[in-house]
Amino acid sequence: MANILVIDDNPTNRDTYSDILEGEGHTVLSASSGEEGLAKLTAAAVDCVLCDLKLPGLDGLETMELAHEKHGRTPWILITGHGSEEIAVRSIKQGAFNYLTKPVDLQRLKATMESAAQTAGLSRENKALRRELGYDEALDRIVGTSPATKAMKATIRQVAHSHASVLIEGESGTGKELVADAIHTLSGRSARPYVKLNTAAIPRDLLESELFGHERGAFTGAVAQKKGKFEVADTGTLFLDEIGEMSMDAQVKLLRVLQDGHFSRVGGNVDIAGDVRLICATNRNLKQEVLDGNFRMDLYYRLNVVNIHVPSLRERREDIPLLAKNFVDRLNQRHGGNKVLNEESMEVLRRMDWPGNIRELENTVEKLYVLSEGASISASILRQERSFAHTRLHDEFAAAPQPSPAGNTANQEDAIASLVGLPMDEVERRMIIATLDHCQGNKSKAARLLRIGLKTLYRKLEAYQHDTTSSATAP
Ligand SMILES: Nc1ncnc2c1ncn2[C@@H]1O[C@H](COP(=O)(O)OP(=O)(O)OP(=O)(O)O)[C@@H](O)[C@H]1O
Ligand SMILES: [Mg+2]
Repeated sequence: MANILVIDDNPTNRDTYSDILEGEGHTVLSASSGEEGLAKLTAAAVDCVLCDLKLPGLDGLETMELAHEKHGRTPWILITGHGSEEIAVRSIKQGAFNYLTKPVDLQRLKATMESAAQTAGLSRENKALRRELGYDEALDRIVGTSPATKAMKATIRQVAHSHASVLIEGESGTGKELVADAIHTLSGRSARPYVKLNTAAIPRDLLESELFGHERGAFTGAVAQKKGKFEVADTGTLFLDEIGEMSMDAQVKLLRVLQDGHFSRVGGNVDIAGDVRLICATNRNLKQEVLDGNFRMDLYYRLNVVNIHVPSLRERREDIPLLAKNFVDRLNQRHGGNKVLNEESMEVLRRMDWPGNIRELENTVEKLYVLSEGASISASILRQERSFAHTRLHDEFAAAPQPSPAGNTANQEDAIASLVGLPMDEVERRMIIATLDHCQGNKSKAARLLRIGLKTLYRKLEAYQHDTTSSATAP
């Protein structure tokens, strides 16, 4: 039996419908306006709705549209006046389950509600089943069956439906963006805007206008009014990536907006109230940043209502074969090929360290794919490519010991003396690799120790990778 919401401003009609439907064993809630109906839909679990078209305030169609946006497609039956066939047809096009014309035939009312209730029940069971089997498409894109990945997917499923702000933490390349995407897709906001902003990629002085928009003439270059990401994301989700890189100034502004629930465009004085679900991600340990005084504690608590830790690939090595296979499948699709990773290559990948996490694995698989000429993908080049601390194989596969980083030699002065005579960029290269090694491949940490930007570190590593001759000849 179903939970039915009856929306009608006429109390006699409400009572009649309620009596009939309760007589059929359903539970009935009632509301006298579209606004009240929407509030009831938020507060209670409703399977289907019987709604009069003509209502004071929001009419039946408008109420349906808002309800579908917010709560998904609850079967909706509209009651239309005599002679309003055209509206009835339009209502079906807009997603109504069915309509009844006045005067309502009570037998038809019973039958229509029964079939709506059945549809609601089926879709509920279907959803539950899909969830149980882990078939949600958005979650399928997060490949992996290790306990760590399963636990993370379970959390995503749990939190997706709430309005709570989510903070996603995890090392670079672990799939934080995929997690954010899944949360939005599984939420009730999936049909609403999903806006992404990498706060680290926006110059400091433009971030405020990027977030909140600006009025024409607000500053030099503001030639037209522009909506900010908060406004564009209204009723949907805003994903702020690399939130740990946000300046103190911008943090204050963001906090104010989150506290007040409204904002104004730069150079404007109109308050704009927004309904935005916020998801943030960072590869820093944000709590540590708070302790170090780099991130505001009050903002941290606002953003970290729900915390999702995305495990590094070290913590879910069991996922490597499935991930690798998945990447090969995708490449085959893209290139129309049918290559496979042979067992030996899979074993090499399985035993390697992946400080750059899934992104590094993905890039490596792609490189192997492109370099392999036959149908069998070989990983032999990985054995030769040991110029990098972070592409090191586990012991069994390592043919020779790694060059020891300067910091590991017994006497620091000796270590420094051993660098004399080397060109400056070679010293820098060694320093960077040794630091990366010291940080167990964690690039963010290494960049911080070296006091260089993460992007700079990536650029340098990339350059070294191409420059294998110089690293191969290094003692
Ligand atoms: N579980 C996974 N299954 C399949 N692909 C994945 C998975 N996790 C990550 N990837 C892929 O790895 C790459 C990196 O993922 P993503 O960009 O989400 O990482 P990130 O944590 O946001 O990294 P960064 O901190 O550097 O921005 C993407 O191409 C993504 O599709
Ligand atoms: Mg990212």
